[in-house]
Amino acid sequence: AEAPTLPFRVGHGFDLHRLAEGYPLIIGGKNIPHTKGCEAHSDGDVLLHCVTDAILGALSLPDIGQIFPDNDPKWKGASSDIFVKEACKLMRDRGYTIGNIDCTLIAQKPKLSPHKEDIRSNLCEMLSMHPDCVNIKAKTHEKVDSIGEERSIACHTVILLVRE
Ligand code: CDP
Ligand code: ZN
Repeated sequence: AEAPTLPFRVGHGFDLHRLAEGYPLIIGGKNIPHTKGCEAHSDGDVLLHCVTDAILGALSLPDIGQIFPDNDPKWKGASSDIFVKEACKLMRDRGYTIGNIDCTLIAQKPKLSPHKEDIRSNLCEMLSMHPDCVNIKAKTHEKVDSIGEERSIACHTVILLVRE
């Protein structure tokens, strides 16, 4: 049967990166001063990876790792806004726009609230969206498990796509 043309599509993204010394901590395109950063093939931007997967997921497309394989030298050290922009292009090609987006960063450290507005404004610019439709939250992991023990950071994203 033909695929239904839905007026709305919901998507979810999740990403986690290991933290290590000697890497920059880049979240939502913003370089955040910290003793550790994300070990990754690209710039390790956990928020932008997660947003990319939320967009792709809403469209039932392959995930970020399938579209941008991390063994492809093309993406080595890549600035992750490339992934977001490519996902947005695939979205527009299918006739959708982003309604709103809600992200939850999970990090024991550093404190992210001082950076939330900068991260939000970067994301708004990347997605050409109004700040009222883009939300960034932060949580600790109550000092338990790898996130709580400052060995990793993670992010969840929920997104609503609206048919144009
Ligand atoms: O109090 P609750 O357990 O709900 O949350 P928490 O994980 O203790 O975080 C308390 C507040 O700190 C959050 O509401 C965030 O605004 C802020 N926070 C932050 O700025 N940076 C983090 N890495 C984690 C939390
Ligand atoms: Zn990632």
